[in-house]
Formats: sequence, C-alpha cells, structure tokens
Amino acid sequence: MLELRKLCVGYGPIDVLKGISLSVPTGSCVCLIGANGAGKTTTLSAICGLVAASSGDILFEGQPIHCVAADVIVRRGVSLVPEGRRVVSNMSVEDNLLVGAYTRRDDKIGVDLESVYRRFGRLRERRKQFAGQMSGGEQQMLAIGRALMARPRLLLLDEPSMGLAPQIVNDIFRTIREINAAGTTVLLVEQNARKALSIASYGYVLESGRINSEGKAGDLLKSPQIVAAYLGGA
Ligand SMILES: Nc1ncnc2c1ncn2[C@@H]1O[C@H](COP(=O)(O)OP(=O)(O)O)[C@@H](O)[C@H]1O
Ligand SMILES: [Mg+2]
Repeated sequence: MLELRKLCVGYGPIDVLKGISLSVPTGSCVCLIGANGAGKTTTLSAICGLVAASSGDILFEGQPIHCVAADVIVRRGVSLVPEGRRVVSNMSVEDNLLVGAYTRRDDKIGVDLESVYRRFGRLRERRKQFAGQMSGGEQQMLAIGRALMARPRLLLLDEPSMGLAPQIVNDIFRTIREINAAGTTVLLVEQNARKALSIASYGYVLESGRINSEGKAGDLLKSPQIVAAYLGGA
C-alpha cells in the first residue's frame, strides 16, 4: 500500500533522512522505531506532504505522492495522528472530531462520528467539553478519533504512547490493534519499541536517518542488538 524508496529529506542544508526504503503492505501493522532525533516524525511528515523530499520516491497504492498537496493525500486515504496529539484546546471534542472530516464532501460524516463515539465512549460523554480540559489519554483518543474521521485506509501514528501512564498506553495500543484488525493499514512510529513490536507484524529501526535493521516483529524482539539498544537490555 505504501512504499518509500531511497527517500531523502532535509531541512535546509541538513540531511535528516538519508535514503530510507520501507514498505507497508495492505492490511498490515508496521512499526518504525528509533531514538529521539532519528527522523521518525520527518518520515511521517514526508508521507503526508508536510515536508518535501529532496530525492527518492513515496508511492501510495502505486502512485507517487511526493509532489501531491497535503489535503489531497488525506483525500486519497492517508491520515496522521501527530506527535503530541495537537488537539485544539479551546474547541469542543466534537468540533475537533469534525476537523478530521474537513476534506470530505460525502454524507457519511455523521455515521463516522457515531462510530468514533462507539469506539471511544469517553469522547461521547465529553463531546461538548473543551478538548484542553481532557486528560492526556483522552486527548490521544481524540487525536485518533479525529484521524479516523477522514476515513483513512492508511493510518499513521506518531508516538501515541508519549507521556501516558502504562495502563492508558495499553488501552491506546489495544485500540490501534482493533483499528488494524478492522481493516485499516497502520504505520506506527514509536520510541516505545517493545510496545510497538508487540502489536506490529514487521518493524524497521531508524538510526540517524538510515534504516539499520528490519525484520518480523517477533524476530526483532529476540535480536540481541535490538534488545540491547532499544528494549532496555531486558
Ligand atoms: N523543522 C525542522 N527544522 C530543522 N531541523 C529539524 C526540523 N524538524 C526536525 N529537525 C531535525 O531533524 C532531526 C530528526 O527529527 P525528527 O524527525 O523529529 O526525529 P524523531 O521524530 O525521530 O525524534 C533532528 O535532528 C531534528 O532536530
Ligand atoms: Mg518525533
């Protein structure tokens, strides 16, 4: 469904991604793990058309999308849950969800709002509240719900576990697994490598803008180098 080929991205003269290649098959959950500053967010920004690639290809369903405007990429079926959630604090929960549907012209927005509320009962209870009054976990649910309102076929998540208590992290990861099981392809970016590899089928490890290893999630979880570098040596 998604393929990156030798993708290079820089900010001004600084190269951040130095030729990364990865692929996300339709229906899969693939994770991209790596330390702070490795280039994970830059990778997702490039896929969404928020930063330009200096070379290489980004193919979505076989079509190049590296010169396509960000809103068109959303309309084609790619939706991002950004790092740090980025909900609009002084807007209601429901209005934040409706922001996620801004590229749509169809008449199923109400149906999808209902399905987000079915998935996240908390958001229904709080639909009139300001998003900024919600807990971190609830804001993460809101950010995921907002992304689902675009009806994505490919959902990109940038560090959904960041700053959340372990129990909430478990809830969020269970939700991601359910969304994937219901048919949405997922590319998950995480510093929490153990958690990410526990729900993904395949993983890539990004180090200083290069993919330095990849493999089936179960194999990466057992790899001595990965354990030492990313899984706390445990
Ligand atoms: N807008 C930007 N301008 C300049 N440098 C940036 C910008 N965004 C990120 N960087 C740099 O690019 C590198 C990779 O950042 P990022 O993709 O955010 O990494 P990660 O998400 O893996 O933590 C870092 O060195 C960061 O300082
Ligand atoms: Mg990041």
